[in-house]
Amino acid sequence: MHASTALSLNFCGLSLANPVALAAGTAGYGPELNDAFDLSRVGAVVAKSITCEPREGNAPMRIIDSSAGMLNAIGLTNVGLAVFQAQKLTSRAEIGCKLFGSVAGHSVQEYATVAQAFDIDKSIDAIELNVSCPNTSDGLQFAEHPDALRSLLREVRPVVTHKPLIVKLSPNAPDIVKMADAAIDAGADALTVANTFTAMAIDVQTRSFRLSNKRGGYSGAGIHPIIVRMIYDVYSKVARDAKKPIIGLGGVSRWEDAAEFILAGATLVGMGTALYIDPRSPLRVVDGLARWTKAQGCSNIQELIGKVKD
Ligand SMILES: Cc1cc2nc3c(=O)[nH]c(=O)nc-3n(C[C@H](O)[C@H](O)[C@H](O)COP(=O)(O)O)c2cc1C
Repeated sequence: MHASTALSLNFCGLSLANPVALAAGTAGYGPELNDAFDLSRVGAVVAKSITCEPREGNAPMRIIDSSAGMLNAIGLTNVGLAVFQAQKLTSRAEIGCKLFGSVAGHSVQEYATVAQAFDIDKSIDAIELNVSCPNTSDGLQFAEHPDALRSLLREVRPVVTHKPLIVKLSPNAPDIVKMADAAIDAGADALTVANTFTAMAIDVQTRSFRLSNKRGGYSGAGIHPIIVRMIYDVYSKVARDAKKPIIGLGGVSRWEDAAEFILAGATLVGMGTALYIDPRSPLRVVDGLARWTKAQGCSNIQELIGKVKD
């Protein structure tokens, strides 16, 4: 069986070559990882989050190693909307897979402005709302309370009329299922589960915080089993019945990790931290998923979504 037939799928009306997506903030503005491998081998790249104005982000240290993963407090460094559209999206043709734009902001109005610009930009196939960045002073303001998320989507949903609107949820919310429910209720077409966990690290010799921002987002292998549980909960309690696809994201580095997400209910599987260890790791995940689909007796991987034996 050729990987293309076993893994090709429909995501909110878009045809993707396979379910593997490169996660926001870990794959540059789109084409950068073409140096590591041909990006047409994955389903989608999610570009780094864009705000209206350029942002320098936090001072160093802003990325550190941790056991079973890493901590980052980048702070949404980006070139801003105008430069992203005028200079970064010009290399769209090099990407060869779907390109999702990621939107961030300090206010409802900022989210709406960037989302509206993405909605009419032909280089962008879908729009992910990063309402869940733990590394800015106000990054989680829309991610922890259903009413705050609803108020954001009340302004953003009406300006996104051409493209799928994906809401990236925070694992730091007291109840991620309630947040998923609110997002769907307010018009989200799909959900990403999830962003990083708020975390902290201390240098015991100098007795200082290892990240300049003190707090950072924990990602990588250590969070994977927790995200499996969150995908399962969101899928079985709200997303399956609402027919809203999930992008599973957190600690995937091997095809087995991705397969677990799919069985728990994910349609797409994102990879972020693994790219820092081996930028070509998505290729092994794609090949492994194709073999697994066949070994499970399925002609297409979509037959396995949510098919963990309950
Ligand atoms: C260095 C770094 C930068 C990130 N920047 C963003 C970002 O700009 N926007 C966003 O939505 N998520 C961002 N994330 C979160 C990832 O997209 C992803 O949700 C998280 O890392 C969990 O997946 P992983 O364990 O596969 O890395 C960033 C993660 C890392 C490690």
